[in-house]
Amino acid sequence: MEIQISEFLISSTVVAKCPVPNKPEFAFIGRSNVGKSSLINLLTNRKSLAKISVKPGKTQTINHFEIDKKWYLVDLPGYGYAKTNKELRESFGKMIEDYLLLRENLYCTFILVDARLEPQKIDLDFIEWLGVHGQPLAIVLTKTDKLKRNELEFSKKRFFEKMNSIWETLPPIFLTSTVSKTGRKEILDFIGDAIKAQPKID
Ligand code: GTP
Ligand code: MG
Repeated sequence: MEIQISEFLISSTVVAKCPVPNKPEFAFIGRSNVGKSSLINLLTNRKSLAKISVKPGKTQTINHFEIDKKWYLVDLPGYGYAKTNKELRESFGKMIEDYLLLRENLYCTFILVDARLEPQKIDLDFIEWLGVHGQPLAIVLTKTDKLKRNELEFSKKRFFEKMNSIWETLPPIFLTSTVSKTGRKEILDFIGDAIKAQPKID
């Protein structure tokens, strides 16, 4: 799938103020600074459609982009460095929790994880939380340009193994770099297929 027109629509702080949920929606979330906004710019082929952080925590609202008048792409704020599930929820806040659980047109949430780090508890907890609530998800390992090929293989394997020990069926895992512009086609094709596979919502 290719993207022709991408347009910023609205920043919301509550799910009730988000656009009418009449189009398939795909959201991007992950720890602060992991590269969510950069990935959205890569996918849409735009330099600064989503604002890129100089310091972590730049994105603090639910940001809707309309793609080709057909689907919504959403840039979510980063979650923090909490240790327990309760803290985790507090750190990403009721806003994101409500959004993820109540947004009826949400087809898939992409959870971005820094490819350089070993799987972090906060990410695994978040993935588990989404899974337990039955929400479709996919994993994106970001900033892969910062790793050598063998390091990346190792990192991917490490993440697969960690996920395997928790989950019966593994979610899709994508590898991306906004510097070497990799992973774009794979993610867009996945989104295109997901839109085709689902019944139309109106
Ligand atoms: P918040 O909105 O603060 O949660 O951050 P974010 O997850 O949206 O991250 P953002 O896209 O703003 O990127 C954070 C920093 O990482 C920026 O300095 C980016 O240039 C850098 N960055 C993002 N993606 C990549 C990548 O694939 N490779 C490299 N080398 N740097 C990246
Ligand atoms: Mg951001």
